[in-house]
Amino acid sequence: IYIGIDLGTSAVKLLAMDENGTILKTVSKEYPLFFPHPGWSEQNPEDWFTQSVEGMKELTEGIDRSKVAGIGFGGQMHGLVTLDENDKVIRPAILWNDGRSQKETEYLNNEIGKEKLSAYTANIAFAGFTAPKILWMKKNEPEKFAKIAKIMLPKDYLAYRLSGSFCTDVSDASGMLLLDVKNRCWSREMMEICDVREEQLPKLYESWEVVGTLKPEVAAELGFSADVKVVAGAGDNAAAAVGTGTVGDGQCNISLGTSGTIFISSKNFGVDENNALHSFCHADGSYHLMGCMLSAASCNKWWAEEILQTKDFAAEQAPIEKLGENHVFFLPYLMGERSPHNNPDARGVFFGMSMDTTRADMTQAVLEGVAFGLRDSLEVARKLGIKIERTKICGGGAKSPLWKKIIANVMNLKVDVLEVEEGPSMGGAMLAAVGCGAYLDVETIGKKMAHVVDTVEPEEELVAKYEECYQRFRKLYPTLTPLF
Ligand code: XUL
Repeated sequence: IYIGIDLGTSAVKLLAMDENGTILKTVSKEYPLFFPHPGWSEQNPEDWFTQSVEGMKELTEGIDRSKVAGIGFGGQMHGLVTLDENDKVIRPAILWNDGRSQKETEYLNNEIGKEKLSAYTANIAFAGFTAPKILWMKKNEPEKFAKIAKIMLPKDYLAYRLSGSFCTDVSDASGMLLLDVKNRCWSREMMEICDVREEQLPKLYESWEVVGTLKPEVAAELGFSADVKVVAGAGDNAAAAVGTGTVGDGQCNISLGTSGTIFISSKNFGVDENNALHSFCHADGSYHLMGCMLSAASCNKWWAEEILQTKDFAAEQAPIEKLGENHVFFLPYLMGERSPHNNPDARGVFFGMSMDTTRADMTQAVLEGVAFGLRDSLEVARKLGIKIERTKICGGGAKSPLWKKIIANVMNLKVDVLEVEEGPSMGGAMLAAVGCGAYLDVETIGKKMAHVVDTVEPEEELVAKYEECYQRFRKLYPTLTPLF
């Protein structure tokens, strides 16, 4: 039995599968997310650990616990977790969707310069990335900065607490802006720029590699055998790509979680000249390009729960029929935006309402706004000459048939729906299976276990209607930029 742990932003999602990829059980455990200032976003690493352990207990209830052979992770990327010399967490983790490090981001991009950053890491700075957060801590919390003994990413904190191994993997490390992505090693130059020493950084592994076994006391608490292997795991997007079979060359996956991402796998290393897309290591030993929107399914959650005051978002979607004819537009920048605008100050906007606008029109605009945002990143990839005609889809948002239809038509892509939509936790479990030697490599297991059960086809007429809508949508952001 292999366990995949997807350490998300709203909850940790756990999955147990057998060697053939049959899902035995899934469990989800929530924890709080704090917004102490506008644009800030934090979580307590202790919550991640407690809920993951509780989750594993629930997950294996009624299952022969002695059969658990391996544990793998998919984790929310970029979060800064800092430990002192006694392994105490120094401050709450600063998450991927936190925009506080704008000044440090500008310093890196303008003073150090995008060309150098791109040469060292294959990427430029974005406020959510880890390096600008380290610089923010150095400037704003110098006493805490001075105490840092270990820097790690969210899922690495779990691996550390479970196995005692201070480790990370190259896919997740890619989002720190400290990794030389092409050569899959730490960048000396970036360590110097960030005033970080190599011993403060975790040891690098490929995602399927075993980093250790469970600590005896953890194994005893869980009722697992002590030789359960822990593998490095991957950033949640790379893990989701493994889980959806987005391995090999030129495959595409869209993830609709708190964030929205478009992930394009590539056998060869490549960089988008304008760095609008991230160039990261993949969890299968290769590379990928990715666009990341900071608010995707979280826009729905905000709209439904905060504004409409309902938990039943599916019911809100039921009256929506006329696609491609909406006069209302929504800019989904509730936490600022990463790809492709790189602007932490951007904000959400509804545009184009009139007296006959309905609640359903506005709900539709929210779903369409995210699809248009994803299309912005797809356009960058298309301009690079990458031909994408179909995509896999996963994440909580992928459960909505309407949203999948909107995405297929806004992006003019065939959307392949999978039997298992739990991308990152499935991917984490698959990485564990490879690490335990049950499969030869990640590409093999990815192709074997991800089964497409349905395809949402774009419809010519609707694609044409949405093309017009998209051309209007894309004019809104540049027009409003001076006002954010
Ligand atoms: C990717 C990113 C998000 C988080 C969400 O660059 O920031 O997708 O990984 O968990």
